[in-house]
Amino acid sequence: MKILSPVDFKNLRLKNRIVWLPMVSWLADEEGFVTDELIARHQRRAEGGVGLIILEATGVLARKSPKLLRINDDKYMPGLEKMVQAVHNAGSKMSVQLIHYVKQATSGWKQKVEDLTLDEIKEVKKEFVDAAVRAKKVGFDAIELHVAHSYTLSSFVSLLNKREDEYGHNSKGRSKIVTDIIETCRERLGDDYCIGARISGEEFVTGGNTLKQTKVISRLMAEKGLDYLSISAGGKTEDGRWYTGYSGTRAMPTSNLPNGCHVYLSKGIREELSPLRVPVIASGKINSLELGEQIIQEGKADLIGVSRPLLADPDWILKQQENRKKDLVPCMYCNACLERDQRWEPVECIEAEKRQSK
Ligand SMILES: Cc1cc2nc3c(=O)[nH]c(=O)nc-3n(C[C@H](O)[C@H](O)[C@H](O)COP(=O)(O)O)c2cc1C
Repeated sequence: MKILSPVDFKNLRLKNRIVWLPMVSWLADEEGFVTDELIARHQRRAEGGVGLIILEATGVLARKSPKLLRINDDKYMPGLEKMVQAVHNAGSKMSVQLIHYVKQATSGWKQKVEDLTLDEIKEVKKEFVDAAVRAKKVGFDAIELHVAHSYTLSSFVSLLNKREDEYGHNSKGRSKIVTDIIETCRERLGDDYCIGARISGEEFVTGGNTLKQTKVISRLMAEKGLDYLSISAGGKTEDGRWYTGYSGTRAMPTSNLPNGCHVYLSKGIREELSPLRVPVIASGKINSLELGEQIIQEGKADLIGVSRPLLADPDWILKQQENRKKDLVPCMYCNACLERDQRWEPVECIEAEKRQSK
C-alpha cells in the first residue's frame, strides 16, 4: 500500500504517509509545561507506527490558559525536548502546531481582529517567529502555523475580516499576517527547515471562506515557501461557542456525516498547489487504511490525517495491517472526547475506557 510507504519532503523522511493530527489534550500542567502523561501519549502513538505526529495547539503568547501547552518562553524548552526525543526514539517525526488566540470570554464575546493595532499585529508576528525558533532548537522536525478554525490567524484570513488596511480588504491583505510570518520564519529557520500550516478549507459559516477563497489563500502561503498544508474545516465561533454550531460540527465531524467528508477540500487545494508541489494533508473521518489509500491513489491528498481513531486505539495502523480488526477499538465519532475538551478535562476516548473496564 502506498499509504504505508515512505515519503520525503523538505528535510523530512516519513516512514509512512499517516499523520496523527493535533489534538488538544489538556494534559499539560497549570502553567503549560509538558507532563509525563503527555510524553507517554505521544510516545505510544509513535510506537503504533505513525509517520508524523503533529503536537497539539501550543501557545505562542503569554496570556494565561491553564493546561494549554506552551512554547512562549525558553523555560518550556526542556520538557518539549524530552517529548520530541521520546517520539524520535520510537521512530516517528514530530511537528508542533503553533497557536495564537484573540481574547474571548465564556459569555461568547470575542475580540475582533479589526480591533488589533499595527503594534499588536507586530507583536503577534514576533510571538510566532520566536516560538518557531524555539521549536527548531528543541528538535521538532517541523512547525505548523494554526491558520484553521477560530483563532487569530484564521480570523485574519477569513472573509469575515473587515479590516480595510494592509491586513484586510482583499485575499492578499487578509493573508498578509500569515505570509509575513512564513517569510520571517524562513529567514530565521533556514531553507531546509519544514514550515507547515493548517487551514479550514471551508469555514461553513455565513459570510466566511469557501473553497474559492481558501484556494487563493493557500497559494499565497505556498508561494512564500510553505512545505506542507493540512486541511481542516469549519470551527468558527461565529456559529456558536467553541466547536458548537454547524461550523463546529464540521471541524470534528460527527457520525451522521459521511466518511472522508472533507476530502473534496484537500483535492481542490492540492490541485491549486500542484505547480508548487506542496504536500497536502487530508482529514475528517478517514476511518480506515483502505480509505486513506484510495484518497492517495486518486491524487486527492499526499498524506492522511487521522485524529480521533488514533486516540481510540494507538495501534490503529498495526491492527489493520495485521488483519486484527476485531481487536481494534473503533472511533464511533461520538465526540465524547470533544465534550471533555470543552470541559477542559483530559481528552480521552470513552470507547477505549469501556474496553479497559471490561
Ligand atoms: C478533542 C479534540 C481536540 C482537537 N484539537 C485540535 C487542535 O489542537 N488543533 C487542530 O488543528 N485541530 C484539533 N482538533 C481537530 C482534529 O485535528 C481533526 O481535524 C478532527 O478531529 C477531524 O479528524 P478525525 O475525523 O480523524 O478525528 C481536535 C479534535 C478533537 C476531537
